[in-house]
Amino acid sequence: MNIKETIKNDIYEILKDYVSINDIIIEKPKDRKMADYALPCFTYAKVMHKSPNDIALFIKENLKGYEAEAINGYLNIFVNKNEVSQKILEIIINEKENYGSNNIGEGQMIVMDYSAPNIAKPFGVGHLRSTVIGNALRNICIKNGYKVHGINYLGDYGTQFGKLIYAYKNWGNEEELDKNPLDELKRIYVKFHEEAEKNPALDDEGRRIFKELEDGNPEYHELWKRFREVSLKDFNKTYALLGIDNFDSYDGESYYNDKMEPIVEELENKNLLELDDGAKIVRLEDDLIPALIKRSDGATLYITRDLAAALDRKNRYHFVEALYVVGNEQQLHFTQLKAVLTKMGYEWSNDIHHINFGMILQGGKKMSTRQGKSVKLHDVLVEAIDLAKKYIDEKSPNLENKDDVSRKIGVGAVIFNDLKNYRTNDIEFNIEDMLRFEGNTGPYVQYTYARINSLLEHKKNIDIDYTKIVVNEYMWNIIFKLYEFNDVIYKAKVNYDPSELAKYLIDIAQDFNKLYAKEKIVDNEENSSQFKLLICEGTSLVLKEGMRILGIDVLNKM
Ligand code: ARG
Repeated sequence: MNIKETIKNDIYEILKDYVSINDIIIEKPKDRKMADYALPCFTYAKVMHKSPNDIALFIKENLKGYEAEAINGYLNIFVNKNEVSQKILEIIINEKENYGSNNIGEGQMIVMDYSAPNIAKPFGVGHLRSTVIGNALRNICIKNGYKVHGINYLGDYGTQFGKLIYAYKNWGNEEELDKNPLDELKRIYVKFHEEAEKNPALDDEGRRIFKELEDGNPEYHELWKRFREVSLKDFNKTYALLGIDNFDSYDGESYYNDKMEPIVEELENKNLLELDDGAKIVRLEDDLIPALIKRSDGATLYITRDLAAALDRKNRYHFVEALYVVGNEQQLHFTQLKAVLTKMGYEWSNDIHHINFGMILQGGKKMSTRQGKSVKLHDVLVEAIDLAKKYIDEKSPNLENKDDVSRKIGVGAVIFNDLKNYRTNDIEFNIEDMLRFEGNTGPYVQYTYARINSLLEHKKNIDIDYTKIVVNEYMWNIIFKLYEFNDVIYKAKVNYDPSELAKYLIDIAQDFNKLYAKEKIVDNEENSSQFKLLICEGTSLVLKEGMRILGIDVLNKM
């Protein structure tokens, strides 16, 4: 059912002697009380030789099946609420968790590069946003019918590994590396820098070892592999807390180590490489800083690996879009990446999108520990879970599975807080605020869902007599909003922004709670009670599916 299309066609039948179907642009008034839909009639005045308002009146007289009003050159249209409500609710309840999906992306592949923490370093809050925005976008694309290949492009290469290998061989502790890998790696990395202060020759030693690693020294390769494995094992604890485990690949920067030469050659053959002080660069248009492809000592760079990765992904997955979910601060890098690919003659560089996002702030400043270090993501998730647990202990001490519930509330709060604002904005990270049960929070949506769930115990499987139903303003608001789920899913994909969906879920929860405050859902009139419970069921389906897409669990009880 497409209500807007139907109205458009019905109006076209009336105006077809004067205008074409594409001239009929049905709008949705911002203020719901004004009308369900509206048609501005100004552009028809010339061809119809009438004032816009007379045209609106003319349509009103001929339009069957709707209530309408002509006001200031607009035709305000009200749909038949009984009929439409019935249809909307039937569709949702039939389609269940498929409701809201479309097949726009059918047969097309989107490659998504997200999360991408750097190994041998703690998984910090700095990588939270890429992880949760990426995960939500992945689900949004799938809901729009696309296939998605999700890549966790680990930062697992670079000269620091030469230093780490040296440090480990000299000061490493096997047992600690197993127990607290990232703390141990950090300890020896710090130690390396302290020692290198005293003895600068160590830096050269680090570089030499990295070079040997690149050239395939088996002992170094084993160590590097081990660092990668223990890091990943540690990262997986954080992913497990977040409930994110669906990467299709963990091919990181190191995967492209032996795949860069062909790119450099291709650049050479296409006469795009220039020598600059011994380094190889590609000059770019529009005052863009040239891309440094190879350092004078022959070492490759971040962008060299990303070039190899982009080509490899295009060849392997034939993507229609490649999305890189990475913070604002890498804007230049992705502009250069696209520009180099364009210069190489790859038109599909236009299908590469840097899905940038803002910083995480605390009290308006970049979030960090008291010592100015990066905050571990695992730690803040545990903090949120603990606070959720405290609330649960106070509010519902007898709840079953309190630990599981606390995790879902705590982590859900962190994820929702990240996704509820336009992604390019900076976000505030305040655990107490994000865990409030009122306001624009994850727990608020979860709480609304749980409330509906307990109402649904009264639901029976009976046919509703719609002739006896009066759909009031509160019911209509929520039903009509449920109908918008399709548009929201579509818009979230087009804008690559999960906040479209997060904001919508807040609206749904608010509209539901308004209805709940106004009306007893279950009263002694069975027909209308069951109708209201049908609204509840539709609402719960949309809330659950919407939250799933954002990567958040709902709870039957809390
Ligand atoms: N590991 C990088 C970082 O932490 C992010 C990688 C993003 N993806 C990419 N293809 N460059 O900054």
